[in-house]
Amino acid sequence: MSVAKKQYKRVTVKSLIDMKSNGEKISMLTAYDYTMAKIVDGSGIDVILVGDSASNVMAGHETTLPITLDQMIYHASSVIRAVERALVVVDLPFGSYQSDPKEALRSAIRIMKESGGHAVKLEGGKEVKESIKRILNAGIPVMGHLGLTPQSIYKFGTYTVRAKEEEEANLLIHNAKMLEKVGCFALVLEKIPASLAERVAKELSIPVIGIGAGAGVDGQVLVTHDMIGMTHEFNPRFLRRYMNLYEDMTNAMSQYVSDVKSQEFPNENEQY
Ligand code: KIV
Repeated sequence: MSVAKKQYKRVTVKSLIDMKSNGEKISMLTAYDYTMAKIVDGSGIDVILVGDSASNVMAGHETTLPITLDQMIYHASSVIRAVERALVVVDLPFGSYQSDPKEALRSAIRIMKESGGHAVKLEGGKEVKESIKRILNAGIPVMGHLGLTPQSIYKFGTYTVRAKEEEEANLLIHNAKMLEKVGCFALVLEKIPASLAERVAKELSIPVIGIGAGAGVDGQVLVTHDMIGMTHEFNPRFLRRYMNLYEDMTNAMSQYVSDVKSQEFPNENEQY
């Protein structure tokens, strides 16, 4: 289906809701630093997520758990300096919002004040309801995140598809409706059956953005380093690689090593 795209000079939470009502799919990618954020923003992306996946992608940790609030603020402020158009959503990292709503609000305020981010994202359903309400009461937009929630990896035990069984699917639907009701402006659904994700997107009026959640949702998000093939060991079925930068960069750098060794670089035009 071809959909006429309205041009948004600056994407806001309201623009995303408009996109859903107009049937325009929402595009979202991650960025954690200034240079990448400039490229991602220049591509015309709608939303940039400063994800806690920075813990894996930038710092090489096995999970998203170790990244700190200070580190998220550092990444987000670098991204913000580059962005002219996209809405920038910043993940609240593990340990910065789970203990009580006041702590959640303090963490969200630090992100907004110290990084200049436009909204926060946090994982979970009813267990974080009061925290979400507190953050929203302070005027900070909140994006929810259900399905596979990597901050709970040690509870799940694996990164496999979530909510395949009826009981978990019903709980997810219940939590998604609750997140809309308390006032989240959008919801990420990660790695759940496409039919369930489509049902949630149809039943909610806020945009539902999927990763490994099929085509029936209102938008898609991928980790940029995965979609441009800079990472190469992570190969889930949902990931489409648009480039193979790991190989291209390795070849370019090997060529450089060889040119330096053979004194091919620098040549006469590359010196003063
Ligand atoms: O941190 C992240 O990159 C995310 C996406 C996978 C949605 O939360």
